[in-house]
Amino acid sequence: MVQSTGTNKIKTAIFFSGNGSNLKSLIKFSYKKKSPISIEIIISNNPKAKGFRYGKIFKIKNKLIRYNNKYLAEKKIISELKKHNIKLICLAGFMKIISKNFIKRFKGKILNIHPSLLPKYKGLKTHKRVIENNEKFSGCTVHFVNSHLDSGKIILQKKVKINVKDTPKKLAKKILIQEHKLYPRAIMKIFSL
Ligand code: GRF
Repeated sequence: MVQSTGTNKIKTAIFFSGNGSNLKSLIKFSYKKKSPISIEIIISNNPKAKGFRYGKIFKIKNKLIRYNNKYLAEKKIISELKKHNIKLICLAGFMKIISKNFIKRFKGKILNIHPSLLPKYKGLKTHKRVIENNEKFSGCTVHFVNSHLDSGKIILQKKVKINVKDTPKKLAKKILIQEHKLYPRAIMKIFSL
């Protein structure tokens, strides 16, 4: 487990691939006095990821790592993480599967947020599948990352009620609002143990 010592905050990297709304909420959280983390670098595989704008707005170092070759991409990522002495990785809508070796190397130090009540609805297109199955509730989960997709130890979950009129898009929006609160809460939880 990563330790937060005294006034030294845990040096954290955020990996993202898209809009970066969770990235934004984590950056904002990191600036709070009570936050145990400081965000040193944000990394994306996608040159078009909108989340890059938050790197600019908040003046946080950003790095684009293209994934033409996964092994080389991860090698480059590891070198960035070393350079910045990163002790915690938060996946926030990162659309690449991380290799077993990488996960081993950062065992217990990688977190992810998933838009369902895990272990239900692992993988992609969760909201569509949830609605097609006439579920009454869905939600979001923050968990540790292990070598199986969306299967690591659960840290926190938030349940969200599904209305009959909810489309996958509407549900995604509703759940995202909760995700933005849940990720910081999960980080607080693991570092106040
Ligand atoms: C979120 O729903 C997150 O749970 C999932 O991907 C989405 C990312 O959204 N892993 P954003 O880029 O943080 O807005």
